[in-house]
Amino acid sequence: MASNSEGFSTRAIHAGQDPLQWTHCSVIPPIVMSTTFRQDAPAEHRGFEYGRSGNPTRKVLETCLSALEDGKHGFVFSSGLGASTVITCLLDSEDHIVSGDDIYGGTNRYFQKCLSKQNIAVTFVDATDIKNILNGINPNTKMVWLESPTNPLLKLVDIKEATEAIKKINSSIIVVVDNTFLTSYFQLPLNLGADIVVYSLTKYMNGHSDIIMGAAITNNDDLAAKIGFLQNAMGIVPSPFDCAMVNRSLKTLELRMQQHMKNGLAIAKFLEKHALVEKVMHPYLPSHPQYKLALKQSSGHSGMVSFYLKGDSQKFLKSLKLFTLAESLGGYESLAELPSIMTHASVPEEAREKLGITNQLIRLSVGLESEKDLIDDLDQALKACQ
Ligand SMILES: Cc1ncc(COP(=O)(O)O)c(C=O)c1O
Repeated sequence: MASNSEGFSTRAIHAGQDPLQWTHCSVIPPIVMSTTFRQDAPAEHRGFEYGRSGNPTRKVLETCLSALEDGKHGFVFSSGLGASTVITCLLDSEDHIVSGDDIYGGTNRYFQKCLSKQNIAVTFVDATDIKNILNGINPNTKMVWLESPTNPLLKLVDIKEATEAIKKINSSIIVVVDNTFLTSYFQLPLNLGADIVVYSLTKYMNGHSDIIMGAAITNNDDLAAKIGFLQNAMGIVPSPFDCAMVNRSLKTLELRMQQHMKNGLAIAKFLEKHALVEKVMHPYLPSHPQYKLALKQSSGHSGMVSFYLKGDSQKFLKSLKLFTLAESLGGYESLAELPSIMTHASVPEEAREKLGITNQLIRLSVGLESEKDLIDDLDQALKACQ
């Protein structure tokens, strides 16, 4: 069995996958579709009783995910937002959350439209400056929600320093980090002090744009017991088949992330030199204002690149041939989108303007195609949008 002292890909391939756990010793974990499990006597079972409360295929994936995260407890859910819903259900009515202001639009919508009905208020702050996080904390604050890099502007939050400062004010505040953009291959928020890491596994972790799923991972036994209870009690669980698909995808995560980084950085450098591009955001460009922080807290960046275009953004997006105009990110195929009217349309207009999510802001999810073909495609679309 792989342990956390082993390399990333060794854990991705072996953690939780021991063939000896199955009587038939299948090398690839079986997809167990059964919704119920025979009991030896009433309430006496061999680890599984009912498919919502636990499933062998799901457990394999949860074990593998927690090993990759250097974490103790992993839980998967039927979407990334499902994972976020369960995490916020750790709170009570009248509790308060401080959240970064530049986060995934769907998380923002969930906070504003759903949590408010449960009487849980959220204060949005520019979390790139830790002072803003601390100023947002009040006696009812029970959770701080961070994304780093942020979506879509790729700003960074110093997770270690932020967590230390938050815990100094109140050690019981739960710090949650959405690590979807970097994955456990490039960044380990639990090792930087976070209490819970949340994922949209839909993105890089699965990486094939064919599964919607989420995860929460923690080292805290008490939080794990509560999240495990909520996973069963709220029932936001994925299918065994989907779990097997994500488990398979994790085996190539290291290889995929290395190639996403290589292609993404090459494209960021190409765009930065282009006359029709106003500004490029990529944490591993020396021009990024938090370049040093990127080098300190992560070991690389994914294929996410955002930029402000000088030309006509609609024309640019329609002219792309290899990049597909679509929402989402993290798959092997390259995607392009306009956050202001696509992924972040649910962010109130005033907040979008303040953040800089304008109609000139393009977000790319750079895939695994050949670098030259991707650059050629961007080049011809840039020429067409003048
Ligand atoms: C950073 C981030 N977090 C969470 C989510 C929500 O995940 P899902 O779509 O799997 O519910 C997304 C989706 O785009 C995302 O980009």
